[in-house]
Amino acid sequence: MMASNGIVQDDSKNTTHKFDPNFTQAVINATGPKASPRVRKITASLIQHLHDFARENEITVDEWMAGLELMNEAGRMSDNKRNEGQLVCDIFGLESLVDEITYKLASDAQDEPTATAILGPFWRKDAPKRNMGDTIVFNIESNDWTLMHGQVTDYKTGKPIEGAELDVWHTAPNGLYEQQDPDQPDMNLRGRFTTGKDGKYNFYCLRPTSYPIPYDGPAGKILRALDRHPMRPAHIHFIITAPGYKPIVTQIFDRRDKYIENDAVFAVKDSLIVDFKPYQGDPKADFELPYDFKLATYEDANKHSVAGTTEESATGLGAKI
Ligand SMILES: [Fe+2]
Repeated sequence: MMASNGIVQDDSKNTTHKFDPNFTQAVINATGPKASPRVRKITASLIQHLHDFARENEITVDEWMAGLELMNEAGRMSDNKRNEGQLVCDIFGLESLVDEITYKLASDAQDEPTATAILGPFWRKDAPKRNMGDTIVFNIESNDWTLMHGQVTDYKTGKPIEGAELDVWHTAPNGLYEQQDPDQPDMNLRGRFTTGKDGKYNFYCLRPTSYPIPYDGPAGKILRALDRHPMRPAHIHFIITAPGYKPIVTQIFDRRDKYIENDAVFAVKDSLIVDFKPYQGDPKADFELPYDFKLATYEDANKHSVAGTTEESATGLGAKI
């Protein structure tokens, strides 16, 4: 319809068509015949949303350039120890949303497999393999030593899973991961543990500390512009893998943390909130943290997951992370 100001409007989308109405489709149509169906589909959708975003908000060249510079700065800051692009996605909730979409099976119900949570930007490949009962803490004085223990089981049968690997990492009491902190030994507060026949695990770690995500780059600029804080509730990260089972990337969160309901990257789920219990009888631990992980076989996982989630695609993901 023609509005009183002479601008043509499409009432079905309530979009103001003062811009070339054929432009977006022309860009989408430029995709060639050899593009895969998945690439064709998601790229067309991306172009449509990007163009609609620009039109609806009447983005100017200066604003677009400012956004572009944030992206470029994030790229320049990123290396094998820092992933600023991922951090920017995290503060917009995108990684948590994609995690939810990818791992639909995980829910907050008690009898479901362990819920997933975002990987975050601080995981490092090839953390040291350690023996059960070892510590992951080195060169740190603390009154928060914790004995974490539990079992990895098949969520459906309850049977222990032999050969499950727990890859664990968390921050030091100063709120820094080891790769952010030159005073910590390399690979401090990280380790990989493999279960035996009984599926059980135990190791010493620290009760973690809440910490700010790095805010000296684009993610920090965005947070300041949005009048938001950079804090994450205290948590421990895990990747649990086992032959034949769908890997789980997750985090567990300390219930008493003041940011538990206000995570800067929106990753907290109810079933992942835990209680550290004061512990007596072990001179090496101030707290005890029992926690069991429940995995789903690929067959069970695929019954509930979104289409396209297969062992191959998960393996590809595993290779990437
Ligand atoms: Fe973290």
